[in-house]
Amino acid sequence: MTPQGMVVLISGGGTNLQAIIDGVESGAISQPIAAVISNKADAKGLARASRAGIPAVILDHTAFGDRAHYDAALAELIHRFDPKLVVLAGFMRILSADFVAQFEGRMINIHPALLPEFKGLHTHERAIAEGATRHGATVHFVTAALDDGPNIIQAALSVTSSDTPDTLATRVLALEHQIFPMAIEWFLQNNICMKDNRCYLNGLCLDANGYHLENGTP
Ligand code: GRF
Repeated sequence: MTPQGMVVLISGGGTNLQAIIDGVESGAISQPIAAVISNKADAKGLARASRAGIPAVILDHTAFGDRAHYDAALAELIHRFDPKLVVLAGFMRILSADFVAQFEGRMINIHPALLPEFKGLHTHERAIAEGATRHGATVHFVTAALDDGPNIIQAALSVTSSDTPDTLATRVLALEHQIFPMAIEWFLQNNICMKDNRCYLNGLCLDANGYHLENGTP
């Protein structure tokens, strides 16, 4: 069988997962979510999956001695669902190179900043602290280096003088919910691919930012 649909990995609230579920239910995303996997038993996103009738699996990283064993078990679990695409939707773990190699070119992540700016954690706090005037979200292919794979799509907004880390988080999350389903459907429709560490959209090599939305428009 040709791989089909997605496996979505989460660690927390799962609002991006919800945007994907909504996309599948509305038809904006053309293939199903085969399973949701969380490394945390209390991730609120698990209930979102169950409500939508999607198998929700907990693979608790604290039950494993080290990263290599956890990642091997995670890879095996994902392979069981034979997905076309692996979606990291707030999966808060660093992935080993061995794991990434198994899914390279068909694994994507969402990051709450305009990569390559603000890799890692606390992006909104850092954007405010550094006086950034633009901020946003990025969907990118996952490679072995953290938050470093080729960008697929970015959405940017202007930071205002009244923004706080919390208001930025809310505004950026709304952008995430817009661009993640778009990138997923592009992949499922074979519109995008990763080649030579760049993203190609409909055969054209995108620039380093990826496809770009500025204040909501291309
Ligand atoms: C999002 O901001 C995402 O960019 C980051 O983790 C957060 C997950 O939020 N990687 P949610 O669980 O999808 O609500």
